[in-house]
Amino acid sequence: MTTLAILTAAGSGARLGRHLPKALVELGGVPLVLHAARRLAASRVVDALVVTAPDGSGDVVARTLADPAVTVPVTVVDGGPTRQASVAAGLAAAGTGHDVVIVHDAARPLVPPDLVQRVVAAVRAGHDAVVPGLPVTDTVKQVAPGGDAELVLSTPDRAGLRAVQTPQGFTRDLLERAHKAGQDRSGSEADAATDDAGLVEALGEPVHMVRGDAAAAKITTERDLRIAALELED
Ligand code: C5P
Repeated sequence: MTTLAILTAAGSGARLGRHLPKALVELGGVPLVLHAARRLAASRVVDALVVTAPDGSGDVVARTLADPAVTVPVTVVDGGPTRQASVAAGLAAAGTGHDVVIVHDAARPLVPPDLVQRVVAAVRAGHDAVVPGLPVTDTVKQVAPGGDAELVLSTPDRAGLRAVQTPQGFTRDLLERAHKAGQDRSGSEADAATDDAGLVEALGEPVHMVRGDAAAAKITTERDLRIAALELED
């Protein structure tokens, strides 16, 4: 009964506008992927790590993760062209014996270890698919995408909306089934799922939500990086 974490770090980080993959961009002198790996290990509920690396950066990522605070075995694999393909590559490299798999984005480097614990505990308590989420503070509108002035279609009731984070946790069996079905379905890169729970939902299986944490915010832009740097100083 062990838990594997797949740490997705194969994105290009084009929106950060640096000349290196986002996972290797530093925050307070430490690469994002190392922040995330340290926090997954610090949770004490993760037994092994599979990290998806950008093309040609596998060795750098492996060297980056050779750190005393990363106290669990690490396997680095090449990611795929989409996040979904990267997670599938990580799953394919998972050793035997892990019955729970959590998937975490290196783009959320400051994930609190107790959030990792909350997700794994909910899976171990019998929920086969678990995501962390937070209430949304903005009013959200559905639009017909495209053009300078997009047509607004509707305004969903904010009370029932949550912004979803990672890590997302699953029984291994369910995550493997969801990815297998997702692979058969996704014809193009545009069809790829942006999170793993979406693949489970597409199977018609229930997904449960636990309380997220603002500290697990995603870094996409330079501004996000500056905010995270301020939080690190606190
Ligand atoms: O691009 P985005 O920030 O949504 O990516 C979310 C996470 O998925 C990041 O940690 C990124 O490194 C990872 N990813 C990946 N393989 C891809 C694209 C993204 O592992 N092909």
